[in-house]
Amino acid sequence: MLLKKKLFIKSYGCQMNVYDSLRMTESLNNHGYEVTDTPDHADLILLNTCHIREKAAEKVYSELGRYKYLKALNPNLKIGVAGCVAQAEGEEIIKRQPLVDLVVGPQAYHRLPSMLEKTRQGVRSIDTEFPIEDKFEYLPRSPNPRKSPVAFLTAQEGCDKFCAFCVVPYTRGSEVSRSPKKLIEEAESLVSNGVVEITLLGQNVNAFKYMESGRTWSLFRLIKSLARIDGLKRIRFTTSHPNDMTEDLIKLFGDEEKLMPYLHLPIQSGSNSILRAMNRKHDTNKYLDIIERVRMVRSDIAISGDFIVGFPGEKESDFEATLDLCKKINYAQAYSFKYSARPGTPAYQMADVSEEVKSRRLYQLQDLLVKQQKAFQKKMVGRVYPILIEKKGKEPGQVVGRSPYLQPVFLNAPSEIIGEIINVKIKSCRTNSLEGVKN
Ligand code: 5AD
Ligand code: SF4
Repeated sequence: MLLKKKLFIKSYGCQMNVYDSLRMTESLNNHGYEVTDTPDHADLILLNTCHIREKAAEKVYSELGRYKYLKALNPNLKIGVAGCVAQAEGEEIIKRQPLVDLVVGPQAYHRLPSMLEKTRQGVRSIDTEFPIEDKFEYLPRSPNPRKSPVAFLTAQEGCDKFCAFCVVPYTRGSEVSRSPKKLIEEAESLVSNGVVEITLLGQNVNAFKYMESGRTWSLFRLIKSLARIDGLKRIRFTTSHPNDMTEDLIKLFGDEEKLMPYLHLPIQSGSNSILRAMNRKHDTNKYLDIIERVRMVRSDIAISGDFIVGFPGEKESDFEATLDLCKKINYAQAYSFKYSARPGTPAYQMADVSEEVKSRRLYQLQDLLVKQQKAFQKKMVGRVYPILIEKKGKEPGQVVGRSPYLQPVFLNAPSEIIGEIINVKIKSCRTNSLEGVKN
């Protein structure tokens, strides 16, 4: 029997990177690699990187530095950088880090096996092209290799919005949607292999648009079609843009039982002048109106968002407007970041807010958002919710599931119930998770 080579793959950043890493793993599996969970004895190390904030890219360089000794121990070890840092800084990585054998951008993953072949001949290679073919056509998918009841499915990639601070339109390219026919087939195959919950992924997933069989498909239609799959019990989608929140999609939260009551809808700032400077192309009224309409059809929905503090020109009054907006929305959960100037974006040249001010604003905003999150969880204590049991917990005899609102729920139960949706009474809550008992 031919011994398999060992692949260590590490993902940074968004869920799309997690999904891409899985697909790369599956594809490399067909080329003689199996996954290992430590870099120590690996034959191939792949870092699937994120470029969204400065820290994310710096982490990659420091991680690469740590692999120097491994290369000294095993001269056949190959090191590759994938993802958005690869896309944005391809040449620079090769120059800056001699340990790196290959650099592959997010649209070229299907060419990874042939690139590896080149590196074996001692050639360092870069592929950051945006080819016209669909990489997913060439990345085989073995149905549910992780044997998990939950799966991601990339429906859309890229972004045409060009927010002034953001690298995504440059690293992931323009908005492209995948064929609904193929997505439905892939979902059916996942479901027949034990998946009960699918999260549709896309940088702007609600901008999903595809012409097929003479009809234009939207995310609304895609979800309606997926919901007809027997055995698929839960559907989610992320991330959405306010400008693509159509009325039919909003109503679906009230009409489609399988669509979970959780909406991640970033606004970035609560100040209209900052939204203008960010080139968001919507104002706070539009956002508040969407949330109101979603809550009209699904009053319990968990609203989540993203915020940036300290965007160039953000005054104290702008920041206060962000706090006010959060108070109006009352988030179930939200992410917030200090603005990080990204080379190549329009905001890069603008005068930055001081680090001190950014830190203080982030602290203040997170304090408010954590309080809102805790209040949301607290209201759940004492009530019963349908929990999809996802995997074993860290403690013996424990399993972890997800509430309809996406929070992890810990309980004591046999691992045989993984994949089932059971009623759980919530006993207590922490900031990011809940604890319960079978009802
Ligand atoms: N600086 C800080 N945060 C950023 N994000 C995107 N670009 C930047 C940046 N340059 C945040 C936004 C986005 C999330 C994925 O990352 O809030 O919604
Ligand atoms: Fe980036 Fe804006 Fe596109 Fe989101 S909508 S990926 S923040 S450019």
